[in-house]
Amino acid sequence: MSAVTTLIEARGVNVHFPIKGGFWGRQVGAVHAVNDVNLAVHEGETLGLVGESGSGKTTLGRALLKLVPSTAGQIAFQGKDITRMSQSQVRPLRQEMQMIFQDPFGSLDPRMTVFQIVSEPLENFGRGNKREQRAQVAELLRIVGLNPGHINRYPHEFSGGQRQRVGIARAIALRPKLVVADEAVSALDVSIQAQILNLLENLQQEFGLTYLFIAHNLSVVRHISDRVAVMYLGNVVELADSEELYGGPLHPYTQALMSAIPLPDPIQERRKERIILQGDIPSPVNPPQACVFHTRCFKARPICSEVTPAFEEKRPGHWAACHFADVPGVTRPQEIKAPIQASPGQA
Ligand SMILES: Nc1ncnc2c1ncn2[C@@H]1O[C@H](COP(=O)(O)OP(=O)(O)OP(=O)(O)O)[C@@H](O)[C@H]1O
Ligand code: SF4
Ligand SMILES: [Mg+2]
Repeated sequence: MSAVTTLIEARGVNVHFPIKGGFWGRQVGAVHAVNDVNLAVHEGETLGLVGESGSGKTTLGRALLKLVPSTAGQIAFQGKDITRMSQSQVRPLRQEMQMIFQDPFGSLDPRMTVFQIVSEPLENFGRGNKREQRAQVAELLRIVGLNPGHINRYPHEFSGGQRQRVGIARAIALRPKLVVADEAVSALDVSIQAQILNLLENLQQEFGLTYLFIAHNLSVVRHISDRVAVMYLGNVVELADSEELYGGPLHPYTQALMSAIPLPDPIQERRKERIILQGDIPSPVNPPQACVFHTRCFKARPICSEVTPAFEEKRPGHWAACHFADVPGVTRPQEIKAPIQASPGQA
């Protein structure tokens, strides 16, 4: 097995957004978007990041790229602490870290041509003159499977899949090391999703890219990821190799998410037990004490609302934050009642 090198790492990272109120506009609370996250992205891998809407995936991705400030903790890029770097100190690093969005043109002027869109990062970092940039953009379009002859077209002239290819061309223009793909295929039809995922995989091979691949759809993440991290209410609650995680999730939240994935075989699908989580996701303004999942967890016991479960390596390379992660399989409350009720002397 080849040695693992960490490209970027979050160490105890928090991102809390202040809530201002009252006459003086003082801080009256905070949205706990990301809480005490420890996560390393390895060079050359695809790390999937999944979780329900509002679980903090985008905020964590943005915090890693220093697009949003962390309120606590450290971020290290290639072993170097970048947490307290100023924007001007971070600027050269921007070339190494790029983001792909669900809607790559949502934030761009629709009157910009493909050339203007893709060459903007080249221009920002003074890469070549206009003629050289045209050649580079044409080459980038070819690399992402678009016709270089369409360099002067506008976004509305392309299909959704083609627009995402333009977004990818822009993201790789500076030859970054890390790409954070945030719901990059979520808005596309399934067949187009597969094409874009294939493109991302090919580019990873060709340019040695590292991906943080954010999505709420577990099936999409499985296809592309080497490892997968699961977020719930600002916390990374489980992390493992993709096959290991999908084969045997240890955290009850992951087990619930997995039980909702439809199986291709209709007989297995009918027999499958689906875990329905009770209640809504609590507010990130006032998250539950101790284990954040205890208000909805089908395995919860008194300790869960009193003691925060450590994010521990339960099996080699398989981390989970749960006091009862070792209780095997998808276990219903009645199945784990007996050992809980037995007093230590009765065993
Ligand atoms: N700039 C901000 N100011 C205040 N609260 C924010 C800000 N950005 C995000 N939040 C809040 O932080 C929490 C996490 O949001 P985030 O967008 O990171 O979640 P997500 O997992 O990416 O969700 P989705 O799947 O819907 O994209 C949410 O409660 C959100 O409302
Ligand atoms: S620590 Fe308790 S509440 Fe939290 S996930 Fe594990 S069993 Fe559920
Ligand atoms: Mg998001």
